[in-house]
Amino acid sequence: MSDAWIEPRSAGIRAEVAVPGDKSLSHRALLLSAMARGSSRVAGLAPGRDVAATRDAVGLLGARIVGDRVDGPGIDAWRAPKKPIDCRNSGTTLRLLAGALAGRPFSTTLTGDASLRQRPMRRLEAPLRALGADITTTAAGTAPVRIAPSGPLRGADVVIDIASAQVRSAFAFAALQAEGASTIDGPPGFRDHTERWLTALGLGTRPSSTRFVIRPGAVPPADFSIPADPSSAAYLWAAAVLLPGSEIVTPDVCLNPGRTGFLDVLVAMGAPVATEITGEVHGDPIGTVTVRHAPLSGVAIGGPLVARSIDELPLLGVVAVHATGPTTVNDASELRAKESDRIASTVAMLRSLGAAAEPGADGFVVGGDGTLQGGVVDGAGDHRIVMAAAVAALAAAGTVTIRGAEAADVSWPGFFDTLNRLGR
Ligand code: S3P
Repeated sequence: MSDAWIEPRSAGIRAEVAVPGDKSLSHRALLLSAMARGSSRVAGLAPGRDVAATRDAVGLLGARIVGDRVDGPGIDAWRAPKKPIDCRNSGTTLRLLAGALAGRPFSTTLTGDASLRQRPMRRLEAPLRALGADITTTAAGTAPVRIAPSGPLRGADVVIDIASAQVRSAFAFAALQAEGASTIDGPPGFRDHTERWLTALGLGTRPSSTRFVIRPGAVPPADFSIPADPSSAAYLWAAAVLLPGSEIVTPDVCLNPGRTGFLDVLVAMGAPVATEITGEVHGDPIGTVTVRHAPLSGVAIGGPLVARSIDELPLLGVVAVHATGPTTVNDASELRAKESDRIASTVAMLRSLGAAAEPGADGFVVGGDGTLQGGVVDGAGDHRIVMAAAVAALAAAGTVTIRGAEAADVSWPGFFDTLNRLGR
């Protein structure tokens, strides 16, 4: 375990920053390229350990990756891995792969590190079984997840009761291999990258924003230019909001509506945020985001906005300390199923820096009007807690030590270097 020491910043940050590639889109681009037969181009892949897990997994299944080129064998030619596939810390790798593998005529076991093996995987069972897949989790509903041959999958209509992009994507990747069309529906707020990309590739239609019809067929090779990750850019946006005199510009960021909830929350708190759409990748919008410092007010959030900002909620906790009045997050029980129990780890992180924070059944409350003190934060083995603590440190009254800082490598290796260089 390595520690990071972060000193408070006395001056504001004014910078334009090229943020690394989007993690969610990188997983999908690698998987779709491996499912296709022929050469795809995947440029700007996310550099972190999670995406490396998907890269290694598709390699085991028969894809060849050289530079930006991914030579996919086609899913019909995927080969049976000789041992369990280790998805490491990456829930997206495990869940999306489970769906893609559900239609294969061989058995696979998907596993991961101690944190991933505690996360809920039973949510994959009902939708994949509706297609006829043979999938089993442990008695606790966790990984290792076993997928066995089941004969041809049959199209099915399912409703999933959580706004999980991973479960929806798993279902879609399996349904592509079924006999007959399938439909998925569920609550709004999820990141609809998979729906947008499969629609652009001619493999689906969208009768409404939550309903998706999957048309089985061969995934074609494609050109995927991965934009910057808004969940990574969020740490810089938060730093800009908190440090007087700051302005951060982040070009080419993925602006999928399922990913922009944190920006909407910042606006609701009073932050000046400018968003300009500059392009798209297979129907998924990309743009430049500029965020400046401003005094903030506390907010109360819940419902679909929570799903749209789910990965940024620990960071929202940090921002909320500096706002006038309390900030309340509800409808966020999914936070308990992330790389750590993020209700507990966010509250613990804030309290170790002297903030008033209370856990709730499905969220947390942060008392505003505060200043963070220096202190020692346990990173909880969770990249988002580590990086949120680093932003907290920039605006704190003393030095912050973050234990287990290497967890940042899961999504953004080099995050601490970028933070140190910013505006200097
Ligand atoms: C992801 C979906 C979200 C998110 C995760 C990445 C994805 O999880 O929290 O970091 O790439 O599909 P859920 O699908 O569990 O909501």
